[in-house]
Amino acid sequence: MAKKKTVGVGIIGCGNISQAYFNGAKTFEVLKIVSCADINIEVARAKAEENGCTAQTVKELLANKDVDLVINLTVPAVHAKVSLTALKAGKHVHSEKPLAISLNDGKAIMDMAEKNGLLVGCAPDTFMGAGLQTCRKVVDDGWIGRIVGGTAFMMSRGPESWHPNPFFFYQKGAGPMFDMGPYYITALVHLLGPVKSVTAITSRAFEKRTATCKEHFGKRIPVDVPTHYSGVLEFHSEAIITATVSFDVHKHNHSPIELYGTEGSLKVPDPNTFSGPVEIFTATGGEWQTQTLSHPYAENMRSIGAADLAYAILGKRKHRASGELAYHVLEVMHALEKSSNHRKHVEIKSRPDRPSALPLGLIPGRLDP
Ligand SMILES: NC(=O)c1ccc[n+]([C@@H]2O[C@H](COP(=O)([O-])OP(=O)(O)OC[C@H]3O[C@@H](n4cnc5c(N)ncnc54)[C@H](O)[C@@H]3O)[C@@H](O)[C@H]2O)c1
Repeated sequence: MAKKKTVGVGIIGCGNISQAYFNGAKTFEVLKIVSCADINIEVARAKAEENGCTAQTVKELLANKDVDLVINLTVPAVHAKVSLTALKAGKHVHSEKPLAISLNDGKAIMDMAEKNGLLVGCAPDTFMGAGLQTCRKVVDDGWIGRIVGGTAFMMSRGPESWHPNPFFFYQKGAGPMFDMGPYYITALVHLLGPVKSVTAITSRAFEKRTATCKEHFGKRIPVDVPTHYSGVLEFHSEAIITATVSFDVHKHNHSPIELYGTEGSLKVPDPNTFSGPVEIFTATGGEWQTQTLSHPYAENMRSIGAADLAYAILGKRKHRASGELAYHVLEVMHALEKSSNHRKHVEIKSRPDRPSALPLGLIPGRLDP
């Protein structure tokens, strides 16, 4: 029998972010979108029509023999339930972040996958884009020496002005840390390796917020989560990162991530994007210099992690945006909250491998040479 060259994909959850996944998936020859589903079948039908696939109920999609891989784009509160159901149905899973809300659910997903011989991937996959891969090359090639410390800042006034369904952002499993933290922590683990311990203090500026998006203008949003975190992450590499993650800040002037090494400094681009700019300062250069991007995939390439997972499914090599990495990130986020609640440092138990860097010279549409 000829060796399979593509992986059939079923998308569950056809909301705001789904079109970016449909678009991204069309870039990679290894992915073939078979069908899409949503609890709201009308939404799934519209997406299927727009993207030339079949609309199905979740049950039909999970019974579809042409679907090998489920991409789970539902809201965080049901990520675990949907991923576990897909794994039980014998499908590999790539989930939006976070992997789950609770650590127990995250572990249940990883255990179920192992038991059934299936693979789990998880967003964010932005670290596989041109900007963060260029940073990785700069770090691995030693341009800034041994990294001693750095900063990470994700601060905004929240998504209620632009997101058509802003309520879930203020429920358990979201907030600035669980919604945006995965981009920053994943990027840092990609660049520095796993986190060893954390400490943090959290707060919330408002008990209720007001939606200003056109869909829910004026509606009040209850806030069930901390909305401002200030913390310190200690890495096994001995680097120390100071981080603030907040939905309570109108404006600021900090770079998303800066790394300080023994030979220079690196400004890392917004890890919620795939592009640059990447800026380096070295003692020999004398000024910040913008680095040419070394890798492709600078556009909005959501699906790149799922494509990498598809290579793992077909080729039995490791995928980069893995469940193990996402579980570690989930543990770090919970530990930051625990540290604030208990007013103490928290050690991190999980220690995943640093995902491998993408090679240079990739052909567009492929992730392996
Ligand atoms: N919107 C963005 O810019 C963005 C960016 C990156 C990641 N994400 C992540 O993607 C996920 C989805 O975000 P979104 O903005 O598309 O949300 P959304 O609310 O716009 O869409 C979620 C969709 O999932 C469907 N759904 C909910 N529960 C379901 C279930 N049990 N079974 C089947 N379908 C179900 C909903 O009907 C809805 O259509 C979230 O985890 C979010 O954090 C969003």
